[in-house]
Amino acid sequence: MEKILVEVCAGTHCVMMGSMNIIDAVHSLEEFREQMDMPCEVEVKVVSCMKACKANTSIENKQGPFVKVNGKMIKQAESESVMAEIMKACKEG
Ligand code: FES
Repeated sequence: MEKILVEVCAGTHCVMMGSMNIIDAVHSLEEFREQMDMPCEVEVKVVSCMKACKANTSIENKQGPFVKVNGKMIKQAESESVMAEIMKACKEG
């Protein structure tokens, strides 16, 4: 079974922007995976600052929270956009 790696940033900026909600949402997805007949495993990895937040020094221009799904960076990540990317990665196999 294919494993999808979801890396969620737990650096200060990303936590302030809601990365912890994304971690909870992805964990919930893993719990419901069998009921949803999802043919992939999802591994959630909480990582320290990915340095993506350092690109812009002004707080208004920072684009966190940052999440990577199988290495693909998602800016301004929300549970929905992360779920959509996980489903896409799962279908692409
Ligand atoms: S705190 Fe998330 S990229 Fe820096």
